[in-house]
Amino acid sequence: MLSVVDHPLIKYKVSLLRDKNTGPKEFRELVQELAMFLTYEATKNLELTEQVVETPLATTTGFVLCRKIAIIPILRAGLTMAEGVLKVIPNAKVGHIGLYRDHKTLMPVEYYAKLPIGIEDMVCIIVDPMLATGNSIRYTIDLLRQQGVSQIKVLSIIAAPEGIDNVLSCGDIELYLAAKDERLNDEGYILPGLGDAGDRLFGTK
Ligand code: URA
Repeated sequence: MLSVVDHPLIKYKVSLLRDKNTGPKEFRELVQELAMFLTYEATKNLELTEQVVETPLATTTGFVLCRKIAIIPILRAGLTMAEGVLKVIPNAKVGHIGLYRDHKTLMPVEYYAKLPIGIEDMVCIIVDPMLATGNSIRYTIDLLRQQGVSQIKVLSIIAAPEGIDNVLSCGDIELYLAAKDERLNDEGYILPGLGDAGDRLFGTK
């Protein structure tokens, strides 16, 4: 399932992100804010169970989430998105995945993985701001499924069509985007995109 979330504030904030004159402080804030919007959309179908609540005046029916939530940022650009998701779901667990790209095969190689205990029963939200080839997200989906995870949502800010197809071909995935761009260039950057998200977030390069 693909959802390119259509909202004037999302369009406006993505435009600010794209602007080469936007500095790291504003860039980080925008990534967090966009992650919050995407989380709101992506969590609309979470299951609830009823629970009795005592207000100061009466007894009423309240709700709690049926399942715990794990946020899975792909290092390093996913970290800032995870902070945005945590603002909306502060009790979520966080599992980190570190991948680098092998220069010969161009495929992701894992250098770090630390996942919450009991992840197999959680709703997992993978976050990575740029969905380019989709290979890193695909790797992460496979890794989570190997751990027994069945409900996976992916949040990215900007995606290329190639990456979208790659992720959706994993099957039974909910993919939420703020923008769908035109294509990848020969170096694997999204066009028009916003450049290297990690460098712009952390002021490197
Ligand atoms: N990663 C980025 O940071 N930017 C792109 O355009 C593609 C991958």
